[in-house]
Amino acid sequence: MIIKVKNSVTVRVLALCIAILLGVIPEVSSEVRYWRFPPQPEPERYGNILIDRATSGTQIKAATFSHWSHRVHYTCRACHTELGFKLALNTTLITEDANKNGEFCGACHDGKTAFGHTADNCDKCHNGDIDYGREKFESLSHLPSAAYGNYIDWVHAVEEKYIAPMHYVKDNRKTFTTSRKLAITPKWKYVLANALFSHEVHGMWLGCTNCHPDIFAYEFRKTESLRMLNNLKGQFCGTCHGKVSFPLIDCRRCHPDIHF
Ligand code: HEC
Ligand code: HEC
Ligand code: HEC
Ligand code: HEC
Ligand code: HEC
Ligand code: HEC
Repeated sequence: MIIKVKNSVTVRVLALCIAILLGVIPEVSSEVRYWRFPPQPEPERYGNILIDRATSGTQIKAATFSHWSHRVHYTCRACHTELGFKLALNTTLITEDANKNGEFCGACHDGKTAFGHTADNCDKCHNGDIDYGREKFESLSHLPSAAYGNYIDWVHAVEEKYIAPMHYVKDNRKTFTTSRKLAITPKWKYVLANALFSHEVHGMWLGCTNCHPDIFAYEFRKTESLRMLNNLKGQFCGTCHGKVSFPLIDCRRCHPDIHF
């Protein structure tokens, strides 16, 4: 799919004036840009991954993992803060010993919360099949719908109490990370399209340290190179949007007033 980006003259003149005032030189020369998006995966495959960091080159098949099937029960924070999974594929060293010890997948796959690390279950994870468990997707058809990604509006699904994913696995302390909600709406006025960002919505799923300080500065407008092209490269908002959260092709969800 190809998206044509054209900014209206008024918006560009305004942006130029603001940019001059702020001492920023915007790219006004490229009036029309074309961004190519790869074909979007089917909704039941969106956010599915095959983990093959430690198993690559061995007899053991890659481990399958589906975000949609897990995020119904747990928030991102539970896994990506408490259990220490990193936010990029194949960057966490997950071993069978650690799993058996109750870490990583083994924090839940212990035979109680979910199937455990016994010989008859190895293949449920180590099957190299990115579509494993696909038939369960139908059971989510009652959730509010969205136009892209899993075709599920995960924000409304929580707000309207269709699902209540847990913020914690074991560490059931109330901490600053989840209790504090900051409602800010940054508007990056000096560039051509304002992007809206809500701390409240992101706080439903994430802890502060998932984003600060590695991805975003703790200060408004202090994140360097926060630009669309870098989002499209998988940085900044693109760390999650395009991989697990709704994809970047859904322009209006971040830029409600964008001109094409
Ligand atoms: C709940 C899912 C799950 C189950 C069940 C599971 N594993 Fe794994 N296992 C993983 C993941 C994830 C990794 C990391 C894969 C990677 O990085 O390539 C892994 C890694 C491994 C590795 C490579 C790392 C190391 O420790 O040498 C071996 C070997 C392994 N598992 C064996 C097994 C065996 C044998 C069983 C059954 C007794 C099993 N696993 C059951 C998820 C699982
Ligand atoms: C049940 C645990 C679990 C939950 C819940 C979870 N994740 Fe993940 N996520 C993982 C694992 C495991 C990986 C792979 C990490 C690795 O290979 O090092 C991963 C990888 C990712 C990646 C990298 C994917 C890629 O293709 O590079 C992103 C982005 C991500 N998660 C975002 C999220 C977001 C956003 C949420 C909440 C909506 C979420 N995750 C919820 C376990 C989880
Ligand atoms: C925070 C708890 C938790 C963690 C961590 C977790 N799982 Fe699960 N997993 C579950 C639960 C609960 C189910 C059962 C889901 C259901 O019945 O809908 C499940 C189901 C599965 C299934 C069955 C198919 C499916 O998607 O429903 C696979 C495969 C799986 N997990 C793989 C993994 C792997 C691989 C890891 C580690 C990389 C992992 N899980 C980490 C809780 C967890
Ligand atoms: C999904 C990512 C994400 C999460 C999670 C997140 N933030 Fe932010 N935060 C941002 C972004 C983006 C900005 C704007 C950065 C910029 O303008 O350079 C920001 C800015 C801020 C600012 C500066 C805002 C201002 O008005 O000056 C503070 C303070 C802040 N965050 C605190 C928090 C706290 C506390 C949490 C946890 C409750 C949190 N953030 C969670 C992405 C996040
Ligand atoms: C660490 C992961 C992560 C990062 C980084 C991130 N988001 Fe999100 N965002 C989420 C999750 C999770 C949701 C819930 C919806 C979903 O998963 O599809 C969400 C939802 C949203 C929504 C929908 C709000 C609503 O009310 O429906 C908007 C808009 C949004 N993000 C904008 C941004 C912008 C702009 C940035 C970068 C400044 C950003 N996000 C960075 C994870 C992330
Ligand atoms: C997840 C949120 C998100 C989505 C989805 C998104 N953007 Fe952006 N976009 C941003 C952020 C954040 C910036 C940088 C700050 C700003 O300019 O407001 C940005 C910047 C821009 C800019 C300014 C120039 C530049 O390169 O930084 C344009 C033009 C733009 N986006 C167009 C689009 C179009 C077209 C789409 C759909 C194909 C899109 N955006 C989808 C968040 C998003």
